[in-house]
Amino acid sequence: MSKTLNFGFIGAGQISTWSAQCVNKHPQANVLAAHDLNPVRLQELCESSGIPRACKTAEELLADPEIDAVYIAVPNKFHAPLSIQALQAGKHVILDKPFALSLAEAETVAAVARSAGKVFTLGMNQRFTKDAQKIKALVATDQLGEIYHAKAYWLRREGIPRLGTWFGNKELAGAGCLYDIGVHMLDLCLHLLDNFDPVSVSGATYTRFGNRGRGEGDWGKSDRTDIVFDVDDFATAFIRMRNGTTVSLDAAWACHTELKDRHGVTLFGSEAGACTHPAKLFRRNLVKEEYEVIEEVEADILYPHLDRFHNFINHLLSDEPLCVTIDQALAVQRILDAIAESSRTGREVVFA
Ligand SMILES: NC(=O)c1ccc[n+]([C@@H]2O[C@H](COP(=O)([O-])OP(=O)(O)OC[C@H]3O[C@@H](n4cnc5c(N)ncnc54)[C@H](O)[C@@H]3O)[C@@H](O)[C@H]2O)c1
Repeated sequence: MSKTLNFGFIGAGQISTWSAQCVNKHPQANVLAAHDLNPVRLQELCESSGIPRACKTAEELLADPEIDAVYIAVPNKFHAPLSIQALQAGKHVILDKPFALSLAEAETVAAVARSAGKVFTLGMNQRFTKDAQKIKALVATDQLGEIYHAKAYWLRREGIPRLGTWFGNKELAGAGCLYDIGVHMLDLCLHLLDNFDPVSVSGATYTRFGNRGRGEGDWGKSDRTDIVFDVDDFATAFIRMRNGTTVSLDAAWACHTELKDRHGVTLFGSEAGACTHPAKLFRRNLVKEEYEVIEEVEADILYPHLDRFHNFINHLLSDEPLCVTIDQALAVQRILDAIAESSRTGREVVFA
């Protein structure tokens, strides 16, 4: 690996500051250019992250022949169109979640990525935490036996991103907590199960806090406006996988609950159970004849860099397998679409 990979960032909001640090930490990558519709935030990101080129438009950034890869972190409505534009400009793309506003949009991006012959991935950072990777290793080495059920959850007490910003608006965000934090835990859960083949989905979403000006947290740099809050701030779903495994998903930006924030995936297997945040293993020790809860889980992890950007970069520059594939991302989007449809119709959605 001798080449340096140059990144262009589209979006200079809250997550991009963190993402630029991750890219710049890699010895063979750096952020060369950035663009944001808001010139103040663009300047701030460029100064704080040492990005030399501030581009007034996405077109200017994408026309730069020195840029190899593009990171997209903007309101969800622009995920698919900007991904398509970047791929067609010959760039590899790492898009922040969620994939798109619908499966149809996501499938269009996937088709463009394939015909352009460029690498496209979704940056699902939760897959890369050390604890999640340890549990993935336990599952891969069959230490849980048959996993028949999994619980995926991210429940915040007062954690709606800044009210009055795009996050709460259906036209710009597509959905609320489901697309913001539900998607993380759903994706992580299916990744741990190594199962992206659902057969049916039943779901319900609720809007109970943001629409009353309640439940606000502090995430997001976009300016407040009087934009309407019309997305879910609570979502729940029951998903059956084709092999019979079941998954329950609960996500809340705001709800009345004991803890400020708790999230994770819990797996229920025939031989052992496990959870991810933090990693723990639960099983009966048949030799000692006692039940044990193992808090220091020992396991070999696949991505010691613990970072989505390092995975994308290493995949482009060497032979590290890409963790998040397009097909997996499409499967997650299919389930998200089905949750919305099931909530709207009051019926289960069954896949052929
Ligand atoms: N992976 C994660 O854990 C994680 C965490 C937070 C956010 N995100 C995702 O990252 C994206 C951005 O979130 P954020 O928290 O940084 O939001 P933010 O509101 O802080 O920033 C969004 C930025 O996008 C800019 N923007 C809006 N439309 C644009 C366009 N068409 N072209 C260029 N710039 C545009 C805005 O001016 C703003 O600076 C969202 O899709 C969000 O879901 C991911």
